[in-house]
Amino acid sequence: MYYPEEVIEELRNRNDIVGVISQAVHLEKKGSRYFGLCPFHSEKTGSFCVSPDRQMYHCFGCGAGGNVISFVMNYENLSFAEAVESLAERVGMELPKQNYSAKAREEVDRKARMLTAYKDTAIFYYKQLRSPAGAKAMEYFSRRGLSQETMNRFGLGYAPQSPAPLYRYLKSKGYDDGLINDSQLLKVDERGGWDRFYNRAIFPIMDSRSRVIGFGGRVMGSGEPKYLNSPESPIFDKSRNLFGLNFAKSSKRSYMLLCEGYMDVIALHQAGFDCAVASLGTAFTSGHAALIKRYVNEVVITYDSDGAGQKAALRAIPILRAAGIRVKVLDMKPHKDPDEFIVHLGAEEYEKRINEAKGSFFFETDVMASRFDMTDPESKTTFHRELASALTAFPDTLERENYLTAAAARYSISADHLREMVSFAGRGRSSESETGRLFGDHSPSRREKGRGILSAERTVLNWLTVTSLPYETVLRYVRPEYFRGEVLSDMARMIFDRLKAGERPDPAALIDEFSDDAELRLRASAIFGAELPEDAREAREVLSDNLRIVKKDYINNALRTETDPEKLQQLLTEKALADRMKFDETI
Ligand code: CTP
Ligand code: MN
Repeated sequence: MYYPEEVIEELRNRNDIVGVISQAVHLEKKGSRYFGLCPFHSEKTGSFCVSPDRQMYHCFGCGAGGNVISFVMNYENLSFAEAVESLAERVGMELPKQNYSAKAREEVDRKARMLTAYKDTAIFYYKQLRSPAGAKAMEYFSRRGLSQETMNRFGLGYAPQSPAPLYRYLKSKGYDDGLINDSQLLKVDERGGWDRFYNRAIFPIMDSRSRVIGFGGRVMGSGEPKYLNSPESPIFDKSRNLFGLNFAKSSKRSYMLLCEGYMDVIALHQAGFDCAVASLGTAFTSGHAALIKRYVNEVVITYDSDGAGQKAALRAIPILRAAGIRVKVLDMKPHKDPDEFIVHLGAEEYEKRINEAKGSFFFETDVMASRFDMTDPESKTTFHRELASALTAFPDTLERENYLTAAAARYSISADHLREMVSFAGRGRSSESETGRLFGDHSPSRREKGRGILSAERTVLNWLTVTSLPYETVLRYVRPEYFRGEVLSDMARMIFDRLKAGERPDPAALIDEFSDDAELRLRASAIFGAELPEDAREAREVLSDNLRIVKKDYINNALRTETDPEKLQQLLTEKALADRMKFDETI
């Protein structure tokens, strides 16, 4: 659904952000802003801040942030279009009629038809498994320890060796070639339709309402690829579906178990852990996190114990946290995955491991520690610095102090020294949760340099939306090409375009440029959470520091690729100047 910019702007103007949010959060006025308890993560002190001037909200705890539309999207789990409709209704604003044309209606009908085709196909595979043709597959599932009841509950099936029968079956049910092709069920050519899953054990993939939207097929025995998955289709969006969610959503447990594979989910459910889900053959996304957050506030990650699993966990943790979900990581050693663990050690032992699961902070810092050589004083010092820097991500003083004490004991450092390092690392850093970035897959030296750059870029961009300096003066300090990363560089371009046109960039409007992608929206919003100190002198100092960091990073990158000796000289001069750059304008 598409709404013109003027409509969105009018909608934002008519829905004052303080009014909308105070219906959901108890807000108290402090100075020109309002504070309350963040609805996106659990906390005891109010780090959730709403600014009526900028029509934005930001949480200093979990990093959630955005404008009035983002708030409704996140709080009520709605898409951009749905949030717009809900806000329009709230103020009685008439939205331009989308002509829900014959074409649109046809689209809806077509999706419904595809869903029936998937359901029919699932029934076809289901029956095949339970027929003589499926004997080998039946034996495979039994050998892996699945009971008949489990096979039925998950609708497991078998795609026959000969690829033609499914096509004939679907035709006999009246589905035409066009629909069969577009639904990705079969590949149709002149000679007929071909089943990509032939001779594989079948795992139907269901959405949260138990409607079949795709399949996973496993080779029985060895062969490549081990798993084949349905491609995305008009009814299957991999980044918004989780395997097992249709059952897990009604589990009595207060957390979900996040695993990697089909067999893991099924084995866990069979063992009584009915809260297990998996993202399917794709990386974990913020769409998945939003889906989980509808039901629970805590996730226990139970990815494979190998390096790849650990890496995937490090990626998923910040995504889950950003959605306001508490995260723990379960240790399955000496076994590889939940399926194998249960087979060897049983459900009771697994339950114990859930209770012993490590909080995600120490999971991250343990991984970090393992990358440093603690017998080398220099390397050890770098680790301590990194640790201190990670601790600054806790904005709540009491919580930070608790983690600090625990970390000091865990890594045998004096708590006083660590505290000193934390306050040092915290200086000039804007408040935001960005631990994820600190644990990226860089070598320690790269990571060391990378520290603070993104944060500095955000602070500078946010300042550009409030400054009243003329465009030419701004350019003396900073240029659009200094900003890196998808979101930051796009945002920088938009902000500079507006400054050049003599306009003041409006953060609430800029965020809507990233309308429907939750992850991009969140990253865009994070920029406007990076605020400067209120005290003008202090603010100038912090801004000087950040401008210097941003500029020097840009020059350093340029130095790495520049080959022309003259240009190199020029860059080196610029670098020396940047070192001494001082910002002394009116903020
Ligand atoms: N996967 C995939 N394509 C592959 C391999 C894996 O889509 N070629 C996905 C599947 O969803 C699979 C998950 O990644 O369930 C985990 O893969 P892996 O750890 O290799 O398999 P297991 O789940 O342990 O599978 P099994 O126990 O059947 O060997
Ligand atoms: Mn396995």
